[in-house]
Amino acid sequence: MLINNLKSKIQNRDACIAVIGLGYVGLPLVIRFSEEGFRVIGFDIDEEKVENLNKGKSYLKHIPSSSIDVAVNNGFSATSDWERISECDAILICVPTPLGSHKEPDLQYIRGTMDFIKPHLRAGQLLILESTSYPGTTEEELVPVAEERGFIIGEDFFVGFSPEREDPGNTTFTIKDIPKVISGTTDNCRSVMDVLYSSIVERTVPVSSTRVAEMTKLLENIHRAVNIGLVNELKIVADKMDIDIFEVINASATKPFGFTPYYPGPGLGGHCIPIDPFYLTWKAKEFGIHTRFIELAGEINRGMPEWVVSKASEALEQRRKSLSGAKVLILGVAYKKNVDDYRETPAFKLMELLLERKADVHYHDPYIPHLTPTRDYDFQMSSVDLSAEKLAEYNLVILTTDHDAFDYEMIADKSQLLVDTRGRYQNNANVIRA
Ligand SMILES: NC(=O)c1ccc[n+]([C@@H]2O[C@H](COP(=O)([O-])OP(=O)(O)OC[C@H]3O[C@@H](n4cnc5c(N)ncnc54)[C@H](O)[C@@H]3O)[C@@H](O)[C@H]2O)c1
Repeated sequence: MLINNLKSKIQNRDACIAVIGLGYVGLPLVIRFSEEGFRVIGFDIDEEKVENLNKGKSYLKHIPSSSIDVAVNNGFSATSDWERISECDAILICVPTPLGSHKEPDLQYIRGTMDFIKPHLRAGQLLILESTSYPGTTEEELVPVAEERGFIIGEDFFVGFSPEREDPGNTTFTIKDIPKVISGTTDNCRSVMDVLYSSIVERTVPVSSTRVAEMTKLLENIHRAVNIGLVNELKIVADKMDIDIFEVINASATKPFGFTPYYPGPGLGGHCIPIDPFYLTWKAKEFGIHTRFIELAGEINRGMPEWVVSKASEALEQRRKSLSGAKVLILGVAYKKNVDDYRETPAFKLMELLLERKADVHYHDPYIPHLTPTRDYDFQMSSVDLSAEKLAEYNLVILTTDHDAFDYEMIADKSQLLVDTRGRYQNNANVIRA
């Protein structure tokens, strides 16, 4: 039987694994499967990435080139040649799932992938979606393509969904330690998914359908978005009441049950939390449901850069200065600390607002030497040096991302006025929180 054959190929490490989309999610999976002795073929439409990876070079700061090099020595190769899909036994799709301009799901990358691989699919393969999307995506986008090829799902072809829980920069948990939710279109699909993922993680969490697994991922991200929205709102209340919100959160976090701390900041960033919740919002509309919590959290979180600018402007005015013409340094443009990822970063909104107010804006980020254009912004800026003399030249410094690499003492010491969006400092004569 095809299923038994596929399972034993996986168990004997004879299976070849395809990872499509060699980004923040795909690359760690390449490395992990390779570590377990699988031959891995990585597919990407970005020729430059393909070329670098084949030379054993990583293009992501938190993934050392040495890990790619080890994978290459273990048989990993990257390609854009879709014919090679037929060599593979399991195919993992890890392509982007952004939002369109009206906050609607943009499935062009998943659909593009399915178009590329369709002619090269063959009986006995396991096709998996790892990209985050709304419930129903696997059934609506993957299954019909496989069926059009004449396969009978669960008998001669297998389909599943397993959401990635990648947290770039997190050194406490590795893929191996993080339980992996798995699902299949049929019971057979789920059982082969279990065999595959049990070979790279310590614990799999099988759920009853791909739709449950898809919604599980969304719940995880909505949970964060909503709770961050809550503390961002409370931050403003606490500020007006002259209460230290971080002290409040840390005190609450001593409760040994029923409380999880979330921390306020300059807004949400990254490819997940600001985006994924709206995948559910969009799908819920099909069922006549308005997802109010998601919308409200989104509204509050998106309003944070405005709040930071208003606090900064107020603080400058108290010093008889104006934002207009002020020399402003944004410290950190990555969406979170210790990573080089600036997708959806709130720092860009902040910079846009400051530029609108005629400030002279610069940035420093040790992980991001230049800003390349994104869909919404094109700043044409490079990171400035961060020396004591340089810092002192700025009328305003805004700590946007609390990278560990910063010299916090020097920053507070040399800044004329420091606006702290991350709770690294206490309010004092030249530091205000926002
Ligand atoms: N970044 C995270 O921390 C994270 C965590 C969990 C889940 N996710 C989800 O994983 C998915 C991928 O996110 P990511 O952060 O890895 O994205 P990414 O942009 O880092 O990587 C995606 C890669 O896919 C490539 N690509 C695009 N279209 C392609 C195609 N048709 N065929 C082959 N390659 C193609 C791109 O060139 C890029 O290299 C998304 O759905 C995201 O929501 C991301």
